[in-house]
Amino acid sequence: MRSNSRVGVVIVSLLLAWVLLVITGEIFFFPVRKIGSFVRNDYLSVDMPIHSDVFRVPPGYNAPQQVHITQGDHVGRGVIVSWITPDEPGSSTVFYWPENGDFKWQAHGFVLTYKYFTYTSGYIHHCPIHNLEFDTKYYYEVGIGNTTRQFWFETPPPVGPDVPYTFGVIGDLGQTYNSNTTLTHYEKNPVKGQTVLYVGDLSYADDYPFHDNTKWDTWGRFTERIAAYQPWIWTAGNHEIDFAPQLGETIPFKPYTSRYHVPYRASNSTSPLWYSIKRASAHIIVMSSYSAFGKYTPQYKWLRKELPMVNRTETPWLIILMHSPIYNSYVNHYMEGETVRVVYEKWFVEYKVDVVFAGHVHAYERFERVSNIADNTLNGLHRPINDQSAPVYITIGDGGNVEGLATAMIDLQPSYSAYREASFGHGILDIKNRTHAHFSWNRNQDGYAVMADSIWLHNRYFRQPGQA
Ligand SMILES: *[C@@H]1O[C@H](CO)[C@@H](O)[C@H](O)[C@H]1NC(C)=O
Ligand SMILES: *[C@@H]1O[C@H](CO)[C@@H](O)[C@H](O)[C@H]1NC(C)=O
Ligand SMILES: *[C@@H]1O[C@H](CO)[C@@H](O)[C@H](O)[C@H]1NC(C)=O
Ligand SMILES: *[C@@H]1O[C@H](CO)[C@@H](O)[C@H](O)[C@H]1NC(C)=O
Ligand SMILES: *[C@@H]1O[C@H](CO)[C@@H](O)[C@H](O)[C@H]1NC(C)=O
Ligand SMILES: [Fe+2]
Repeated sequence: MRSNSRVGVVIVSLLLAWVLLVITGEIFFFPVRKIGSFVRNDYLSVDMPIHSDVFRVPPGYNAPQQVHITQGDHVGRGVIVSWITPDEPGSSTVFYWPENGDFKWQAHGFVLTYKYFTYTSGYIHHCPIHNLEFDTKYYYEVGIGNTTRQFWFETPPPVGPDVPYTFGVIGDLGQTYNSNTTLTHYEKNPVKGQTVLYVGDLSYADDYPFHDNTKWDTWGRFTERIAAYQPWIWTAGNHEIDFAPQLGETIPFKPYTSRYHVPYRASNSTSPLWYSIKRASAHIIVMSSYSAFGKYTPQYKWLRKELPMVNRTETPWLIILMHSPIYNSYVNHYMEGETVRVVYEKWFVEYKVDVVFAGHVHAYERFERVSNIADNTLNGLHRPINDQSAPVYITIGDGGNVEGLATAMIDLQPSYSAYREASFGHGILDIKNRTHAHFSWNRNQDGYAVMADSIWLHNRYFRQPGQA
């Protein structure tokens, strides 16, 4: 009697375990899954006070501030220089010269202002510079009279398959003490990032009363120490929408698109919210999670044309940036990217995208190569499966903004989530050649040279058969 019931219990337990395995997909694959061991006790993310050194206004009448640059054409021979003059328009001209030359060239830009509720912006200058030499250090100067300011940047090498290049990856930065630590770690990382891939959510101005647009200005001054010297490739996040009918503000993305210009026309896009660039050995596609993306929409049509034009012999590395992740096992923003996944995931697999970076979730997560594209709603095949043509999805929305960390995780880590941890940090994508790139994630609480998570990415196009 007693031993019979014990056998019964064992059988029922085994059955339950089996059902659980099937339900969760655990029987499918995958050796190692990790949840970072670090336990945080400082969830609070505190804004740097307004009088902090990082927000200091540069001295001098009408001195240019918030200087930042981005790529200005499709291949890296162009730069867009942007800055703001607070008191009067001043000049939109940029003087620039190569390191080994003393002739000062000039490029002429334009100036704009915008209003948001009771806020009026300073004079926002955008100046595209074209036909620069590749692989060259240039100095540049903005401002007029006795308040000019000088900076420098380096153009990338010509586009080509074996051109090594190093990208930083930052998202959801904000302007807290943690944000400052993230930037400092990026600056001090022994692997030197040459361009920042920014996955959206910049200043978080909309978290303050009336979308306090002075927060856009402080953020511009805070990030200048990096953004004036290397291009940031911009992606729009939900904190860029600034849609506030209660304030009479009904033009989405007004502050963001006024302040941050991108070379979208160079990739035949009709909107600054989605576009592409080529840089060294990478073809980078920026998508907009908060613009229409369904079939027949402008973004859909653009991407439909764009993907087949990517020439992997020229740019082996195909990288996509978007704000809201399509794979996510945190409670925060769970399933928000699902509609985008349903529309686009099959293309990511078809065109063998190497990596998709997203932000939005204030934490870090890296996935195994999986896809979930077999499902047609009738066949019940709705489980992500191992797919070596699929990208690696990486969530890196952990720049350090005022909203703090997303610590709550979906209880059972899915088998295809390779590493997840709620800590602030930044990423480095170090492309070595057409076959190999190294990605690493650096947590703020570690030393500058410590990688909390890292992985070798083998290019999907030039992959050897059988290579993971
Ligand atoms: C921000 O970081 C920089 C570089 O580490 C440092 O010089 C500065 O004092 C920091 N500012 C604040 C407010 O923490
Ligand atoms: C230069 O700056 C000084 C001090 O702010 C000011 O008195 C002077 O008028 C300025 N000169 C010009 C040409 O703007
Ligand atoms: C943009 O369109 C023009 C005209 O159709 C074409 O010649 C050009 O190659 C396109 N550029 C890119 C980057 O797709
Ligand atoms: C792709 O790029 C390679 C290397 O630049 C070039 O030789 C080839 O013609 C390009 N292919 C197409 C279809 O444009
Ligand atoms: C590409 O880079 C990897 C990693 O540095 C290296 O092991 C490999 O030999 C390189 N391939 C070629 C063809 O140089
Ligand atoms: Fe976000």
